[in-house]
Amino acid sequence: MSIAIVYGSSTGNTQSAAEMIAENLGMDADVIDVASTDIETLNGYDKLILGTSTWGDGELQDDWDAFDWDGADFNGKTVALFGLGDQESYAEEYCSGMKLLCDEVVKAGATIVGEWENEGYEHEESQSINEDGKFIGLALDADNQDDETENRIKAWIELIKPHFN
Ligand SMILES: Cc1cc2nc3c(=O)[nH]c(=O)nc-3n(C[C@H](O)[C@H](O)[C@H](O)COP(=O)(O)O)c2cc1C
Repeated sequence: MSIAIVYGSSTGNTQSAAEMIAENLGMDADVIDVASTDIETLNGYDKLILGTSTWGDGELQDDWDAFDWDGADFNGKTVALFGLGDQESYAEEYCSGMKLLCDEVVKAGATIVGEWENEGYEHEESQSINEDGKFIGLALDADNQDDETENRIKAWIELIKPHFN
């Protein structure tokens, strides 16, 4: 079984989170910058953990935005998502990029796991909150709550682990 953690990161925060997820996962996983991979490579993994920061006003990180999804086939694949954002300065679009990534992955046929309680955050809105009021993946905030990052990652890994064995 092969696992990849794929991130898009403009100033290094999502990359650091990806590395922390890999350290805590307790399973072998390749950590890959989306800027230096392609869809055939991602199709080749059994399970994926995909992370993006949010830029502009609720947009995807640039490298994910430029990623060519043509040929994506994630049927039968399990995918978990994580996102980085700034809930104070972008309170209306906190981590919204995660939803744009989710849409691509769902279109490609994947099953999404790892939704996350919307508790302990101070944003007002996010496109990444589902109909149950939960985040569709792990929401992190290196700008305002970096001291929470490690604990959130550890708790989230416990949630997704059963789907990654
Ligand atoms: C110009 C600019 C626009 C941003 N837009 C958003 C946004 O719409 N929503 C959000 O949650 N965070 C937003 N952010 C915050 C970044 O997502 C956050 O700093 C993140 O940790 C960056 O991660 P990266 O270094 O991996 O790209 C923005 C930051 C900047 C500088």
